[in-house]
Amino acid sequence: MDTKKIVHGAWSSRLAFILAATGSAVGLGNIWKFPYITGENGGGAFVIVYLLCVLLIGIPIMIAETMLGRRSQRNPIETMELLTEEAGADKNWHYLGWMGVVAGLLILSYYSVIAGWASAYVLKAFTGSFFDADAAQIRQLFDEFIASPIQLIFWHSAFMLATMLIVVRGVNKGLEKAVQYLMPTLFILLFLLVAYAMTTDSYFQGLKFLFIPDFSKLTSGSVLTAMGHAFFTLSLGMGAIMVYGSYLPKNISIAKTTLLIAGADTVVALLAGIAIFPIVFANNLQPDSGPGLIFQTLPIAFGAMTGGWLMGISFFVMLVIAALTSSISLVEPAVAWLVENKNFSRQKACLWTGLSTWLLGIGSIFSFNVWANVKLFDRSIFQLLDYLTANLMLPIGGFSIAIFAGWIMSRQSSEQELNMPTVQSYQIWKILISYVAPSAVFFVFLHVVGVL
Ligand code: TRP
Repeated sequence: MDTKKIVHGAWSSRLAFILAATGSAVGLGNIWKFPYITGENGGGAFVIVYLLCVLLIGIPIMIAETMLGRRSQRNPIETMELLTEEAGADKNWHYLGWMGVVAGLLILSYYSVIAGWASAYVLKAFTGSFFDADAAQIRQLFDEFIASPIQLIFWHSAFMLATMLIVVRGVNKGLEKAVQYLMPTLFILLFLLVAYAMTTDSYFQGLKFLFIPDFSKLTSGSVLTAMGHAFFTLSLGMGAIMVYGSYLPKNISIAKTTLLIAGADTVVALLAGIAIFPIVFANNLQPDSGPGLIFQTLPIAFGAMTGGWLMGISFFVMLVIAALTSSISLVEPAVAWLVENKNFSRQKACLWTGLSTWLLGIGSIFSFNVWANVKLFDRSIFQLLDYLTANLMLPIGGFSIAIFAGWIMSRQSSEQELNMPTVQSYQIWKILISYVAPSAVFFVFLHVVGVL
């Protein structure tokens, strides 16, 4: 490595990295997005494809992305510049870092809008809006809420502000502190919700929907969505995990840590599904209700159960915190780059990235109300941003990371950086990253454009 001064932060321990990376992975993707896209794509078969994508594509790429970051100890753009130099490869690779920075800000723009919904629901839970409400009333509450641009803008602004206030404080004081208590509490609340779902008489119908596959429901579009979501939920393909990896001390095993994080992420998503679908069926709701799904189902449970008031408040508070620990990782690549390469102060970098993302978010807000009929390529602004980032940019980013780690970086470098416990485990990763992951992404894309 060259001798350029490293102005980069570092995690204070292995646990800090695990918490931060798990915090980044576990978020709205698990609790809000996974259930609603599973509902839209027919259930079990979609879940199986998603799990396969996590295992064969997501985990190897997560290992690769962490490794690239730690190897260079720089922000993603510089990482790609530096590692291409090390490998003597084509300079154009650093555009990969660029795409990641842009994808992060695009995702954050609508992520913050949905996190704003969750924040508003903390207040609704607190004021007792769900108390004894039936499915129709809960639905009306939601419909009225998203019809109001003013309310959505207020909550979106509050969430963006909170995100940037954490990021401005930097790695140790901001990011680490924010995630320490979250995970255990989130797990406990999810288990309680699953326990409630068991008391509905549609529990097994919900489980069947989630776990018994009906492959006739699978389209090439759903396969792409499942693959895109594997990237989204593990925070892959845009440099977030690369940045977090760059703060990782050298003596920590990347592979073991990654497996732990991906495992926790998957469990949270499945628990959310197990909690939500029984409630969907018990109340004759449609599984394909779209982005409003959790907001139209869980409040019914909170309104009906004993202790539901406190559960409702705690659940939405948790969801907001889970979203915060993810959103900070969506801006960190951009901020790290502005600070390290463009001589911005951390404050100024946060101000500019925050403002531009906030502005873009207004577009998504309007797509739920005043611009509901504005469609580009048959999609609203929110749907378009989601499709562009999760289904296209992240898989393309992940594909490139796989090619880079598997084919461009020397075997010696990756072997040294990963420092796996056995030769076999390195071999397995090497085969997955060089052949399996890139060809899987490639074939899904081919299939979607109709070549296959
Ligand atoms: N993984 C987060 C979630 O599931 C979202 C997220 C955070 C993300 N950082 C990311 C997605 C980077 C893609 C890339 O909610």
